[in-house]
Amino acid sequence: MTLDSTGGTTGGTTPDTTTGAALGIDLVDMAFWDRPPQERLADFARLRALESPVYFAEPRVPFVRAGKGFYALVKHADVVAASRNAKVFSSEPAATSPEPPPWLAKIFGTPMVNMDDPGHARLRRIVFRAFTPKMLAKIEDEVGALATRIVDRVVEEGPRDFVEQVAAPFQLNVICAMMGIPEKARPYVLSRVDAMTEYSGVRGSLASPRTLWLLYGNLKAIVDLRRLVVRLGKARREKPGDDLVSALVNANPDGERLSLAELGSFFDLLLVAGNETTRNTLAHGLHLFTEHPEQRDLLLGDYDERIGGAIEELVRYVSPIIQFRRTLTTDHELGGHAFKAGDKVVLFYLAANRDPEVFKDPDVFDITRSPNPHVGFGGPGPHLCLGANLARMELKIMFRELFTRLPGLRSTGDPTYLLSNFDNGITRLPFAYSR
Ligand code: HEM
Repeated sequence: MTLDSTGGTTGGTTPDTTTGAALGIDLVDMAFWDRPPQERLADFARLRALESPVYFAEPRVPFVRAGKGFYALVKHADVVAASRNAKVFSSEPAATSPEPPPWLAKIFGTPMVNMDDPGHARLRRIVFRAFTPKMLAKIEDEVGALATRIVDRVVEEGPRDFVEQVAAPFQLNVICAMMGIPEKARPYVLSRVDAMTEYSGVRGSLASPRTLWLLYGNLKAIVDLRRLVVRLGKARREKPGDDLVSALVNANPDGERLSLAELGSFFDLLLVAGNETTRNTLAHGLHLFTEHPEQRDLLLGDYDERIGGAIEELVRYVSPIIQFRRTLTTDHELGGHAFKAGDKVVLFYLAANRDPEVFKDPDVFDITRSPNPHVGFGGPGPHLCLGANLARMELKIMFRELFTRLPGLRSTGDPTYLLSNFDNGITRLPFAYSR
């Protein structure tokens, strides 16, 4: 397999099977993602019912996107098999869409999510220290204190928008706390993250002037954050402390450490991977518990017993990350299709999480569901979400704080959904509680 000038790969098949166009489904067109969630899920059910994966064409954008198109993996078994088999289903050149062109990786480096072993395994060994039970236990009190402060502020100000007042500040502050970013620098970080993620997730076509402008804002925000993190990394190299950045930039017992550039890439990844995901799960969670009061009563009847299952069901039902992609390194058969080296597949977690072959009544939100082998944190394999236990801890702490201190907490209107085919996001959610 060879890279072409846009970062795509040469080789691969021209589709000889059913195409999205033939079915009247276009997963590439943002108009599809603008439709109500139920309609999209119905189309994914149609795709799942077919014998083999369907091909979707992508437009080519010179110097930016190869426009090779991809096969949609929508069955649970196919998503699991592809995730497990990383030698064949590679995360290079990129697991994200659109695939960043090589010049972008040259400037900013490659995040681990877009890497294969051995480079990926080396980074994962180093950054794993951020997510050990010991490290999580260390920040648990701080996460609890943050949740308390955020709910204090809701009580002071009165409820307006759950995303703005609760979900967004909580998640961002947790990551800043982990990285040791001082409180006074956090509003700046938030503004940069908003600019950085405005483009991510394929919102619209790269060919339009508006998205090129967004891309510029996105790149500038990455540069701004890099400066901040590299300064922090340098300071911790000179004077190590008991914090995470010190642990990452100074050698572990095996002599491995992150370079300052790698630290910058890792921080970007944490901000993007960890920020929107948990925040969207919180917002969807409040809305779901409002729409399903019997599930909420069940949860509050025995919070400690039920919260673990509730979080897994939320992640299954919501699928906060809609998809990641892979590129085949060799010819391979999966799900009734003979793929060729260079073919691309997109793993639609949200479709796999509603597969009736695995989940009984998949469209029912049931916090007692067991077993619940969802792929919301990714399929089993080397890229399984590193932050899953952190996300679980945060959600457990924040829902407890919210439900115990704000009686009658509920959403009071329809969520405003983010137009994205990557984050299943909510940008605004009106809410209230009984005083
Ligand atoms: C409900 C919350 C979350 C969801 C649904 C989620 C989902 C995912 C998914 C689907 C992947 C797999 C990527 C792939 O297969 O290519 C992933 C990877 C990753 N996640 Fe999460 N995530 C969540 C929270 C977090 C948090 C809180 C953090 C950190 C602060 C985080 C950090 C990461 C990292 C670093 C990776 C890359 C792992 C690798 O490539 O080895 N995630 N996540």
